[in-house]
Order: sequence, then structure tokens, then C-alpha cells
Amino acid sequence: MLRSHTCGELRAVSAGSRVTLCGWVLSRRDHGGLLFLDLRDRFGVTQVVVEPDAPVAARDASGRARLEWVVRASGVVRVRPGATTNRDRATGEVEVVVDAFEVLNTSEPLPIAVAGPDRSAEETELKYRYLQVRRPELNKALVTRARTNQLIRDHMTGTGFIEVETPCLLKSTPEGARDYLVPSRVHPGSFYALLQSPQLLKQLLMIGGMDRYWQIVRCFRDENLRADRQPEFTQLDVEMSFVTEEDVQEVAEALLHVLLREVAGADVPRPFQRLTHAQAMERYGSDKPDLRFELPVHDVSKTLANCAFSVFRDAIASGGVVRVIAVPAKHALSRKDLDGLPAVVADRGAKGVAWCRLGAEWSGPASKHLTPAEKDALRLETGVDEGGVLLFLAGPRTIAVPASGDLRLFLGKHLHLQTPGVMKPLWVLGFPLVEWNPDEQRWDSVHHPFTAPVAEDLALLETDPGRVRSHGYDLTLNGFEILGGSIRIHDAGLQRRVLRLIGMSDQQIDERFGFLLEALAYGAPPHGGFAMGMDRVIAVLMGLVNIRDVIAFPKTTSATDLMTGAPSPVDERQLAELGIRLA
Ligand code: AMO
Repeated sequence: MLRSHTCGELRAVSAGSRVTLCGWVLSRRDHGGLLFLDLRDRFGVTQVVVEPDAPVAARDASGRARLEWVVRASGVVRVRPGATTNRDRATGEVEVVVDAFEVLNTSEPLPIAVAGPDRSAEETELKYRYLQVRRPELNKALVTRARTNQLIRDHMTGTGFIEVETPCLLKSTPEGARDYLVPSRVHPGSFYALLQSPQLLKQLLMIGGMDRYWQIVRCFRDENLRADRQPEFTQLDVEMSFVTEEDVQEVAEALLHVLLREVAGADVPRPFQRLTHAQAMERYGSDKPDLRFELPVHDVSKTLANCAFSVFRDAIASGGVVRVIAVPAKHALSRKDLDGLPAVVADRGAKGVAWCRLGAEWSGPASKHLTPAEKDALRLETGVDEGGVLLFLAGPRTIAVPASGDLRLFLGKHLHLQTPGVMKPLWVLGFPLVEWNPDEQRWDSVHHPFTAPVAEDLALLETDPGRVRSHGYDLTLNGFEILGGSIRIHDAGLQRRVLRLIGMSDQQIDERFGFLLEALAYGAPPHGGFAMGMDRVIAVLMGLVNIRDVIAFPKTTSATDLMTGAPSPVDERQLAELGIRLA
């Protein structure tokens, strides 16, 4: 090794020993003949000092060293005099008195700051991702990620699961997101798709009798990106045979419990809280509610059915709802805050947020329309206190319910109700099998088309599909959907019925999923499983909101890699080899 110790290792007990450190120059203070350098590597920072009586060669070399140069310094460790101890640093008690110094490499001035709070424009930052990696935050995220993977590996193999690797180049079977296509050179005009998830492969492994499978696997989806979505992301993928919904949930919950304890230091009581999809939507306006704060949504449609306020009355009369969030007086909402709320829900198509503040006299635009009896009922139903504010959303259910969820989440952030470090996992169960897609005029799977319907509801599959419940489930953590899974269909006939339900012709079914239907006919065991989104889990465990912050080389929201410039045009010859001509 070029070094004897890392820059994070030395303590007072090492005083007197001769050491060699390698690292980047983090800072440089020249006190006329007495030179202090802080050397940094991923383990920490150590101060080295070059005194006036150091050998000339060491003085010359260290005198030339500038910020972010890579250097090697040897010398004797000494305890710093009391007053100069740096208590913010693990190595702060000591320094190395240099007797040999070597510049291993120079550095141009960096285009982005790697120490301190200064940040450049996003594009510049991402272009120099490898320099961002020098920063302690990203460094810590990558180390935490490696540790999380190791915890998962230990846990899964330790509980009898077999790790199986599956291919990335697959047949295109579009469901959910758009595929990334890969042209075949050997078969011009034909394409592979990069896998969106190993869903069907792990089901085929169950048919093959593997019984308990797991894999940490990269998935690719060409979809609109957001803070919690990347075009390639990592799943922990699990599948089990001869299990019920509860058995699968037990495996996922036990694992997350370990990660919460080991990575986030949170001891979360088990079993985790559970809500049905309907309860989550009703009470929180979301299928992934953030339960770090309560602030429930109340449906006051019955109370306000005959309200003098036409906005409320008309919404209810035309089959819609009025939903209200009560903000207690202790969370002061200013007039400016209230005026800004309509913008929060505008994306959902909500027309506005009416409000009233409780007091001896109720104030606010909604209050003058309310009768004393309605006010009393609202007070009782919402539990709002004196000085508190009621926020109303009126409209069709499909708008008012999700808008109330957005409003609740906004208030949670705005009023600082999301206490850092608190971890609130929640199972969301009892999803419907399908939901109506008004744009495409067809039924879409809520999870994916391989999710088993609840047996008692099978009779409704063709007559009233919207009422069929599924064996699908999600696990959410602090408002993020971190896991999805289900019991699968293991019967070929039922699988065909469900694929027909979501609008596929028999010909399409055979073309795309013929291999699955055939496999299901050869003794498929009952089975189920889940996939945990690793980028999301690690981000939430670390208290971060953008999954980019836990990915070494992420892409932007327009799916580009600013560092290497991908995607990029390719030359004519490459295209010709693939039999492709650009339009
Ligand atoms: P699903 O599509 O819900 O299920 O994905 C599982 C989990 O993966 C994460 N995830 C993502 N993370 C980052 N970027 C993305 N673009 C992205 N898409 C999904 C989420 C999600 O909960 N085959 C099924 C699982 C199963 O049924 O076993 C599947 O892939 O955290």
C-alpha cells in the first residue's frame, strides 16, 4: 500500500508512531514557513504540518501542493496542544509532523465545490458527478447503500431464499410503462426489450420449483420521471411458493424491520400498521399516505348536503363530495398561506380551497354560508378547536379525494409536521383488481395483470369488474410507495380471463403471453411475492426525498446522463449493421 493509515484513522494513542497518509488536499494554511494541510479521503480528514526544519524536499513538494491535489505525506503523529484540538473531527486530537512529502497528482481548479455548502447549477453539478462523490453526503449514501445490500443478502440467504440471476434482454411485453428496446443485429427488424421487472421470470422459477427466490436486480422503464423515479432503478425482487398474502407480507415486514433498525436506527413496532386501499383514500386522500403526521380528511358531504353555499351543494347534488381538513389553532395559517392553497390543488383540477376560521364569530369566505347547526356539526365531526381553520374541497370524487391528499401532504410539509427521523411504515391492502381508464376507454390493472383476484369476487370478473378485489398489496414508508406485490394467478384459464378483461384479444394474448399461459398449464404452484424499490427505501431511510441522492450515476428528469452525454447519436455504420435507417 502507498499508505499506512487512512485519513480517518489516527487517534491520540498513535502518538509517536511514524505513518504515511494519502489523500486530497482539502485546505491549506501557510503561516510563513509553517504549513498546515488537511488531507481528505473517504474515511475522514487529518491535519499534517510541515515545520520550518522539515527536509527541504518535503518543504518544496508540500509548498507546491494546491487544493484537491493528490498527495502522500509521511511523518510522526503528535498530540496537538490542548487549545488546538479540533473537536468536530474524529482525528482532531492529533496531527502528523511531515518529514517526507510527495505530489502523486496535480488538479486543475475544480468546476464545482466539493467542500462547504456552495452548489453550482444542476447541469454543472451532474456533469461532474464523480466530483460530487468526493462530498461527504454522497459518499455516505453510497456506503449506506452498500451496507443495505449486504444486510439484505445476509437476511435473504439466512432465511432460506435462493439468489437467481435473470436476463435483462427479454421479449417486449408492454404492460404499465414503455419498454426500452434493443435492436437485434442477428435478427434484423427484431428487438429485445430491457426488462421492466423480472415479474414473469420469477413466476416461471416458481413453476420450476425454486420455491423461495430473491434477487437484487436492475429494472428499466421508459416513463415520465420524477423525484422518486429513474429510468433505471433497482429492486429487491422476491417470490415464494405455497404461500398466502400474509406469509409474503411477513417476509417483507421482517426484512424492512431489520433495515429500519440497522440503517435508520428506528425501532418500529411490529406488526406494521395496515389500512385497506379504500380506508387510505377516504382518511388521507392517498394510497401512500405519510403517517408521520395525522391531519385526517373528513367527508362532510352528508352534513353539507343542503348547504346555502352553492359550490358545496352543487358538488354533492351532482354525486360529488365535500372533504375537509381541520388545521388546529396551534399551527398558525396566515392569510397569505390560505390564499396560496388553491395553487396546491390546481394540478388535480380542483377549483379552489374554501376556508373558515373558528372564533366567537367564524371568519373566512365559507363561513357566511353556514347555519349554526352546520357549524356545530362540522365542529363535532372534525374536532376542530377555537382558532383552528377548516379547509374545504368540493367536487367530483375523482378530483376532491386526491386533491385532499395533496393538500394534506402540503400542510404536513408547510407546517413542519414531518418530524425528521420518524419512520412510519404502512401496509395498504385490498386494492381493486382493475380501474377504469377513461382516456383509453378500458379497464387497467391496478397492480399488474398477473395479480390474483379474490376468489369470492370471480363471478364479477366479466359483469362488474370494478368491484373485484385483488390480492395485491403495497408497503409505504413516510409517504413513499417502497414495495408492491401480490399473490399471482396460477391458473391458465383465469390468467386468460384477466388479460381479456384488460382489453387484449386472444391473438394478442397468445403472441405476448403464450409462453406464460403454456407454463401455467404444466403444474404451476400457488405463489406470490413482492418487489421493494431499493433506491426509494434507501433514500427514505436516510431522510432524503430525491432518489438521485442515493444513486452513484443517476439520470436527469429528461433521462439524460450529463456526465457521459448519453443518449447520443450513433454513426451510420452501427445503424446499418442493425438494419436500421432513421426517419
Ligand atoms: P412495481 O412496479 O410496483 O412492482 O415496482 C416495485 C417497486 O419498485 C419501485 N419503483 C421505482 N423506483 C424508482 N424508479 C422507478 N421508475 C420505479 N418504478 C417502480 C417502487 C415500487 O414499489 N413486478 C412487480 C412486483 C411484484 O408484484 O412482485 C413490480 O415491479 O418502490
